[in-house]
Amino acid sequence: MNDDLLKQLDKTKMPRHVAIIMDGNGRWANALGLLRTAGHTAGVKTLKKILTVAVDLNLEALTVYAFSTENWKRPPAEVDFLMHLFSEYIEKEKMEMHEKNVRIRFIGRTDDFSPTIQKQIQGAVNLMKNNTGVKFNIAADYGGQDEIIRAAQNLARKVADGEISAEQISASVFEDELDTVGQPPVDLLIRTGGDQRISNFLLWQSAYAELWFTNTQWPDFTPEEFISALKDFGKRDRRFGGVK
Ligand code: IPE
Ligand code: IPE
Ligand code: MG
Repeated sequence: MNDDLLKQLDKTKMPRHVAIIMDGNGRWANALGLLRTAGHTAGVKTLKKILTVAVDLNLEALTVYAFSTENWKRPPAEVDFLMHLFSEYIEKEKMEMHEKNVRIRFIGRTDDFSPTIQKQIQGAVNLMKNNTGVKFNIAADYGGQDEIIRAAQNLARKVADGEISAEQISASVFEDELDTVGQPPVDLLIRTGGDQRISNFLLWQSAYAELWFTNTQWPDFTPEEFISALKDFGKRDRRFGGVK
């Protein structure tokens, strides 16, 4: 990472929470005559680099979309490959993340993952639970609609049990039921791969996110391009519905 580039960033205009839709692995691989899975392997290397930048910048929160609730529709061999890669990634990287004071969390369902992966997830979460650095959220078997439905179900149960009244449900009470509880809303949402859509990612949390799209496929995404997205964020005029 080029230190000069980091120095160009205005630290007073940094996003607190950056979310990334890491898209384009398959197309990146196909363009090189490789199998889609090679793109996923290459994508993990990019993720490592971007997390390092987040640590260097002491970003408050970084959430990455690794596997959506809709991605189960993919061919079983690809799903299987992604599961293995996911498990390998957690095991290989957790100590280094821990040393960097990263606090890992997983958002999404996880109940459909194999018992082994569920255990690995729990192990990594426990290992880093007292860390105070970057809040690193991996969205796995995650869907924004699914998350909102689960939150609504929890609240409905609480109302049925007489714990709270329906009128007490406010935005902040609702947020306490989301997987991202306690974290700031998304300030900057980045999507690589050229498509300009949300694909069921962080629907609630991105209500006022600044959107940033690039045609770069995820395996080709660099720390330099990440920094340019952060720089661009610093120039945005955020009004949140108000006037200047
Ligand atoms: C993103 O890359 C990674 C996952 C969804 C797991 P894709 O696999 O969607 O790659 P493209 O979009 O087909 O190129
Ligand atoms: C979004 O990418 C999910 C992840 C990056 C994990 P997809 O490739 O699944 O999204 P669509 O199908 O293009 O909307
Ligand atoms: Mg895709």
